[in-house]
Amino acid sequence: MKIINNIKEWKKIRGNLSDDLKIGFVPTMGCLHQGHASLIKNSVSQNDITVLSIFVNPTQFNDLSDYQHYPKTLDDDMELARQLNVDYVITPDIDSMYPDGNQIHLVTDHPLSSVMEGYYRPKHFNGVLTIVMKLLILIHANKIYFGEKDYQQYFLVSELIKKYFVKTEIILCPTVRELSGLPFSSRNTKLSINEKQLIETFYDFFYNHRPHSLNLIKEKLLKLKIQYDYFETHDDRLFFALKIGSIRIIDNFKEAALYVN
Ligand code: PAJ
Repeated sequence: MKIINNIKEWKKIRGNLSDDLKIGFVPTMGCLHQGHASLIKNSVSQNDITVLSIFVNPTQFNDLSDYQHYPKTLDDDMELARQLNVDYVITPDIDSMYPDGNQIHLVTDHPLSSVMEGYYRPKHFNGVLTIVMKLLILIHANKIYFGEKDYQQYFLVSELIKKYFVKTEIILCPTVRELSGLPFSSRNTKLSINEKQLIETFYDFFYNHRPHSLNLIKEKLLKLKIQYDYFETHDDRLFFALKIGSIRIIDNFKEAALYVN
């Protein structure tokens, strides 16, 4: 596995890779967990070469302190990437990704960009689309892998790929969950034991009361003193964002999946 933190070096390597090789790309912000691992495993099994990027993208954060305190576990990430047979890990610095000083270049006006995460985190998706477009061009992969956990992000990136005639195919991978049903997330590492227990109690309740009793679910949240930003349905999918302490947990389920026992 080769670790590259210099874009010039990557461009040279990319230029020497044969067109016959299928390249899979997994963009991440690091602090890798089993959710990221499943994207990587899919890429490794479907391509000749897998490229993983680790870059905490400043333009998608609304809150400077959230950005500054984003968890970093670079050594463990490299170890996991090695175990999973990643070929290249790209960890560029901010100046090379944003030589113009953290500017957002892509602005989405898609209706799904201003609701839910787009509403509670203004400009978040502009930052995501800007960095994903830069990475798409740099990596020039056959396939790019996204997680269903961030379905709104996946949807807006697919729109971007379509609108700009990008040839990379986008692949959606199912949400990987802990035993309680809580999706793996880099931010979960910041939950206290008590907060983690509360959220597990919520998921237990959620799974037992799906799908009709949204009011019951909201009452339960109130009792557990867990706040939420939204519960919304779009395109036959229930999306929600919970807030516990300073941590936001976002999740979504296909409506049909809520009916399965
Ligand atoms: P990050 O939060 O690190 O997530 C990287 C990828 O892992 C995303 O596609 C996300 O949906 C997926 N992922 C996270 N948790 C998952 C889980 N429990 N199950 C399945 N997939 C999961 O998303 C980002 O980074 C950034 O916005 C990025 C796309 C890298 C742009 O900066």
